Amino acid sequence: MSNFSTIYKLSLVAVICFIHACSSSSSCPVLECWFVQEKTGRGGGLTAATSQEKSLLHIRTEALGHSAESQKAPSDISPDRVYFITDPAGTLCHPSLNPPKGSVTKPQCEINPFLPHHSTLKWVAPLTDSAFSPIYLQADWFSAAHQGLDKQLTVSSITRAPTASKEHHVILSVTSKTVSVHARLGEPVLLDCGFWADPSSPLSGLGFAVEWRYQFRGDGRLVLAYDGKSDRLADMLEEGATLDFEGLHEKGNASLILQEAKVRHSGMYICTVYLPYLVAQVTMELEIVEPPSLSLHPSPLPLVVPGQALTVQCEASGFAPLSLELSWEFKGADGKSRPLGSGSVSGHRQAWDGTYSQSTRLELDTTTLDLGKGGELTCVAVHPGGTRRASTTFSVIGFSAPSIEDSMAMVGVALVLYGLIKFVSWTFTSSGSGAADKQDKKDK
Ligand SMILES: *[C@@H]1O[C@H](CO)[C@@H](O)[C@H](O)[C@H]1NC(C)=O
Repeated sequence: MSNFSTIYKLSLVAVICFIHACSSSSSCPVLECWFVQEKTGRGGGLTAATSQEKSLLHIRTEALGHSAESQKAPSDISPDRVYFITDPAGTLCHPSLNPPKGSVTKPQCEINPFLPHHSTLKWVAPLTDSAFSPIYLQADWFSAAHQGLDKQLTVSSITRAPTASKEHHVILSVTSKTVSVHARLGEPVLLDCGFWADPSSPLSGLGFAVEWRYQFRGDGRLVLAYDGKSDRLADMLEEGATLDFEGLHEKGNASLILQEAKVRHSGMYICTVYLPYLVAQVTMELEIVEPPSLSLHPSPLPLVVPGQALTVQCEASGFAPLSLELSWEFKGADGKSRPLGSGSVSGHRQAWDGTYSQSTRLELDTTTLDLGKGGELTCVAVHPGGTRRASTTFSVIGFSAPSIEDSMAMVGVALVLYGLIKFVSWTFTSSGSGAADKQDKKDK
């Protein structure tokens, strides 16, 4: 009996697994996409007017006749803008491009007409050295850009369809799975970029080129350019940036490796892959995030007498980006923490390595602040790279309920004061009488 139920359970599990496998293997999405093109006919203006239309892309990994069911398009999409895209590599079937039905956030997609062209860049031009039959190029070409959910994936692809057909084939696709990267200072960084070229296309096998560009606040520069046809680094303008050349030729792994993250590496990176006449690119963002180190001055804090004011400084240094909140906390003998505000926060300074420093000064006035016998003083720095704390303890002596140590200290202070007063008054009286003696002698 128990055997039977086990078998039953196992087979149920197997059936569920089977259904699951089936549904996930056939989960290439139907993507809603903006079809954006320049308006034709009204030339002459400085700004090219564009038109946007909703379109629908049926993705599949094999070119099959499309079923009547998949022909149905929502009423707001023109049947002329329904396309069938064959992607043998299955890149566009990634789960992040295929959210569950009814999900609020949708993957982003834009598609544009693309014109195959010759490039004059010195690492790309050799790809089109040999004249190429233009028949293959005379077709309908699209360039499509996709953003998966939760920044999991970005894909850019070039597709081709025989003129006036709506059956497109992916010829080149470039992907990145590191859409947004955070790295600590000094760590090695990998910016993912991979490409796939349809091996059945006459353009694949004629060579490729890879280019990495950096962009930050409108300032752009070339990081690295590689001519894959002649296996030559055309330009290497960033020290410590490299590619895995073996992986690039074998698997289309064009990932950029930065050996040591520096603050100036923060910004946008564009990975561009060229085939002869074709180009596709993906963009990703790198941010170097380094939390601050804290130090307190003076440390340890001196003993405080009631009524005395004390200044404490907290210095946060070596952090990036410039986004920091400094504050103070006090924890008394009762173990309760309470905020003491942010103190007076200084302006920031930038060090040679691009990291920042900033400090805050707190005036501890024992008469206005109820600090009891003292306790623990903490400087808190809240930064995107994490929260850092630095603490120091201090004691207020002569507090209303003194401990034995405090009493001893007070007796000590009293004794010293008494001695001091005695000494001072003695020197005064003795020098005073000396002067009086002299005065007496003069008078005589
Ligand atoms: C690409 O190459 C880098 C560096 O060798 C490696 O770390 C990464 O895992 C590779 N990516 C893929 C998808 O193979």
